[in-house]
Amino acid sequence: MKVLVTGGLGFIGSHTVVELQNKGYEVVIIDNLSNATLNVLDGIEKITGIRPEFEKLDLRDKEKVIDFFNRHKNIEGIIHFAASKAVNESVNKPLLYYENNLNTLIFILQQMAERSLQNFIFSSSCTVYGEPDELPITEQAPVKPALSPYGNTKQIGEEIIRDNTKAHNIKSIALRYFNPIGAHPSGYIGELPRGVPQNLVPFVTQTAIGIREQLQIFGNDYDTPDGTAIRDYIHVVDLAKSHVVALERLMNNNNKKAYEVFNIGTGQGSSVMEVVKSFEKINNVKLNYKIVGRREGDVPAIWADTSLAEKELGWKAELTLDDALRDAWKWEKNIRDAKNFK
Ligand code: UFG
Repeated sequence: MKVLVTGGLGFIGSHTVVELQNKGYEVVIIDNLSNATLNVLDGIEKITGIRPEFEKLDLRDKEKVIDFFNRHKNIEGIIHFAASKAVNESVNKPLLYYENNLNTLIFILQQMAERSLQNFIFSSSCTVYGEPDELPITEQAPVKPALSPYGNTKQIGEEIIRDNTKAHNIKSIALRYFNPIGAHPSGYIGELPRGVPQNLVPFVTQTAIGIREQLQIFGNDYDTPDGTAIRDYIHVVDLAKSHVVALERLMNNNNKKAYEVFNIGTGQGSSVMEVVKSFEKINNVKLNYKIVGRREGDVPAIWADTSLAEKELGWKAELTLDDALRDAWKWEKNIRDAKNFK
């Protein structure tokens, strides 16, 4: 069975390709390389022994996408990662985000309808919940007004997929990711942020290795046990596996509704300070950090109720925060050793 993975050279995409190949699926990746490098293919091949088929393709290039689908008639499922994901950038370039994340989504769904392709997995985000009223947060919690154009593309994306599913014979699952971190335990693939990392764990590893001088912890005056903000950090390998089970649910017609939504987290909240302390302890390194003011747009605390995914997908995160921080550090050390990443 052939699976199309858009954005398959990115952080979550590449780990999902590994898990698909490990389970015997044939994978074709398209990626425009806007936030990924071709070395990722080597990493996937080293881990799985298989070099996945890859085409450099921008989903905005409609003619080329049509040509791609014309040449690949045997695709059974699509996992759609390709999207822009920097919250800050989206505030300054909203149209780029709406174009990249929504126009391309619509176009893929149109292609699926025309070609009677049925199984679609969408990368959504816990950002759709905004600031939660109750914790842990379930899929029934209301979707709140988005805090950024990026967040809005995830909300609108979900709505587009829901409406499209009703109108066409397409089955879809939106996975609402909490905070993906870590890297493959082999150290061959991981996160590769361009420029200054906006997310906590890449900033932590880059500080520990000496690329950044100091980690800033954004706020210690939240209403949380140690005052720093709480998130549900999920190991990227666990997250990747959730895509495989979600796709299999659709391919085996085990879905209860044509459009379903699942939280994908660990169910455990960890504070920024806990992440910093765990990183130092598990890796035996000292981190230079200081507390600064809150970052605009951050919610104080969010973590997932994952019981629906557990019940329906039979999926549960297995790796711990320590595992993720150990693997992230191994990856950081590997890429800085490798000349071609410097
Ligand atoms: N943080 C720091 N210092 C940093 C970076 C982050 O203290 O240098 C803190 C943040 O304030 C936050 C926590 O670490 O409390 C996690 O921050 P991240 O940027 O790693 O993750 P976010 O929870 O802000 O963002 C994630 C996804 C986004 C998504 C968002 C929705 O990365 O794609 O959740 O809540 F939009």
